[in-house]
Amino acid sequence: MKVIGIVGSPRKNGNTELLTAHTLRAISEEGLDTELIRLAGLEIKPCNACMVCREEESCPIDDDLFPIYLKMKEAEGIVLASPVYFGSATAQIKALLDRVGYISLAHGKPFSGKVGGALVVARRAGKNFTLAQLTYWFQILGFFIPGSTYWNVAFGREKGDVEHDEEGLRTAWNFGKNMAFLIKKLSG
Ligand SMILES: Cc1cc2nc3c(=O)[nH]c(=O)nc-3n(C[C@H](O)[C@H](O)[C@H](O)COP(=O)(O)O)c2cc1C
Repeated sequence: MKVIGIVGSPRKNGNTELLTAHTLRAISEEGLDTELIRLAGLEIKPCNACMVCREEESCPIDDDLFPIYLKMKEAEGIVLASPVYFGSATAQIKALLDRVGYISLAHGKPFSGKVGGALVVARRAGKNFTLAQLTYWFQILGFFIPGSTYWNVAFGREKGDVEHDEEGLRTAWNFGKNMAFLIKKLSG
């Protein structure tokens, strides 16, 4: 059983990555495999509405998306993490979700019944909106979404700041524990 954490920040080793790694550690402690995928340094272009994916399970845009789509299909659980950029998720993760979501809808809804949830980091404002924005994606695709002990949001501006947000870290950790619990339950 595997959980992948997708980090939508363009900044390597930033707060979103630290928070995601923290959640994945909580999951791996429960015996599940984990993998962190950074969108930083990858090329993920926006959907161009060519509609090829309605006919075949592929995307003709030549970039780094499709291998990530395949990993998402194979995983039992998916964590989507983003910093807040102007009150919303980053363009990189939005492009990924539009395309992965659209391919999947026409090809057997492979995410239905998987477990997923979002993590969000910001300096100040836009966290709950962004958490909702990412959560909508899980909902429309049929994921089960575990809770935590607060909303999955944390504070940070400079790299590493999030490590001082004790409640944010605890929330991300407890979310990971609930995610592992639910995945194990669902697998019987
Ligand atoms: C282009 C840009 C837009 C941002 N917009 C917001 C915002 O709307 N609200 C906020 O609280 N922080 C905002 N921030 C701050 C980031 O959310 C914050 O620095 C976060 O910790 C970055 O995560 P990272 O270290 O994973 O890249 C913005 C940062 C950038 C670069």
